[in-house]
Amino acid sequence: MNSIDNLRIDINSQNFWPWWPLLPLYPYGKRFTFFKEIVPNQIWTFEQLQGLYYVAVPVRLTVIKVNGGLMLINPLPPTESLLVDLRKLEDLYGPVLSIVLPTASGLEHKISMPAMARSFPKALLWVCPGQWSFPLSLPSSWLGIPAKRTRILLADGVPYPEFFEWISLGPINIGLGRFQEISCFDKRSGSLIITDALVGIDSNPPKLFDSDPTPLLFHAREKGSDPLIDTASNRRKGWLRLVLFSSFLRPNNLSIPSLSSIISNSFKPGFRNIKVHFGIYPFEWQSGWQSSALKLVGQDKPLLQVAPVVRRLVFPRAKNELLRWLDIISSLRGLRMIIPAHFSSPISFRNKDCLTFRRKINFSEWIKKEDDWSFLSSVDELLIEKEIVPKDPTFNPKN
Ligand SMILES: [Fe+2]
Repeated sequence: MNSIDNLRIDINSQNFWPWWPLLPLYPYGKRFTFFKEIVPNQIWTFEQLQGLYYVAVPVRLTVIKVNGGLMLINPLPPTESLLVDLRKLEDLYGPVLSIVLPTASGLEHKISMPAMARSFPKALLWVCPGQWSFPLSLPSSWLGIPAKRTRILLADGVPYPEFFEWISLGPINIGLGRFQEISCFDKRSGSLIITDALVGIDSNPPKLFDSDPTPLLFHAREKGSDPLIDTASNRRKGWLRLVLFSSFLRPNNLSIPSLSSIISNSFKPGFRNIKVHFGIYPFEWQSGWQSSALKLVGQDKPLLQVAPVVRRLVFPRAKNELLRWLDIISSLRGLRMIIPAHFSSPISFRNKDCLTFRRKINFSEWIKKEDDWSFLSSVDELLIEKEIVPKDPTFNPKN
C-alpha cells in the first residue's frame, strides 16, 4: 500500500455531504474523513464524526478485500474526499463489489446507504433483515435502496462465505421495529466487524478531532461566556464529557441552569457567532462528573462495553440473546480483534477476552437504575408503561 498515506486527515473542500438535512447531525454538511489501514492489503476504515449539539463520536465504514474487488460494511456519507480514497483502493484492489448494511435499527448507518449505492451503481447491496423507518414505515425502495440489486442477509444467503462467517445478534423486538445486527467475522485476519453491539472507549479523544477540536473545547467549558481554549487538558476534559453525554444522554452530574443564567452568559462580545452557539451553553456540570466518566473509559487500552444506551434501551430484557451471541463469538477460531462502528478501533479481542467479557456481563447487575443510569431507566420504564416497547423482547415475525 504505497499510494495512500496511512492515517491521513482530510481537511480540504472535498468534505461536503449534501444530504445532511435528512439526519441533521453535527458536523452537518462538512464531513472530515479519517482513513486508516487496519490489516495491510486487506482491511481499511474510514471515520467521520457524527452527533448532536457538538456531542460528536466517530462513526466508521470498514472496507475489506474480497475476490476480485472490495466489500464495504456500514456505509458512511460518500463525500468527495472519501470517494477519492475509495477509488484509489479500487485502482489497487479492484472495484467495490458489495455494500453491506448489517443493522436493522442504526439510523446513522442506514442514512447513507442510498448515496453509497448510487456511488457504486454496479455493487450488490446486502441489508440486514427487518429494515424499518420512523415515523413512517416505508419500503426500502422508497428509502432509496434499489430493490433489483438488493439482497437480504441470511434470507438470500451471505456475501463471500468462503472468507466470512456472518453471525446474527437478535432480532429483538423493541416495539417500533427490531434491533438486529449481523456481525462479519473475517476468517483470514481474525477480525470481527460489528456495528452497535459493543464499543471500546479510550480516555483520550480520537485523532479524528485533530481536524477540528471545537466539539471538545465547546464542552470543556463551565458556562457559555468561557472562551474555547485549545489545550491538551481541555481536549481531554471535553472528550470525557462527550463520552458521558453519548453514553447516558442525560448524565446524573449534569443540570440545566435557569434560563436567566443561560441568557446572562450569552451573546457576549466575541461570542456572537454560530461556532460557539452565540454563547448559549444550557448545561451545568456538577462535581463528581469526572469519576462517572472515568468508569466508562480505559486508561491503557479502550474499555470494552455494551454502550449504556444500547444496554438499557435495547437489551434490558434480552441479556440472554447477548450471551448467546458472545458464546458464538468466543468460539470463533483465530479471533484477534474487533472493529466496531463507533469509538475506538481496532480493539484487540481474543477468545479468552470474549470469555472474560461474557462472564463479566453474566454476573453483572444488568438492569441498573441508579445514578447515571436513572435517565435511561426512566425512558425504558415510560416506553414499557405506554406499551410502546413490549415486556417480552422475543421477536415474532408475524407482529
Ligand atoms: Fe451506530
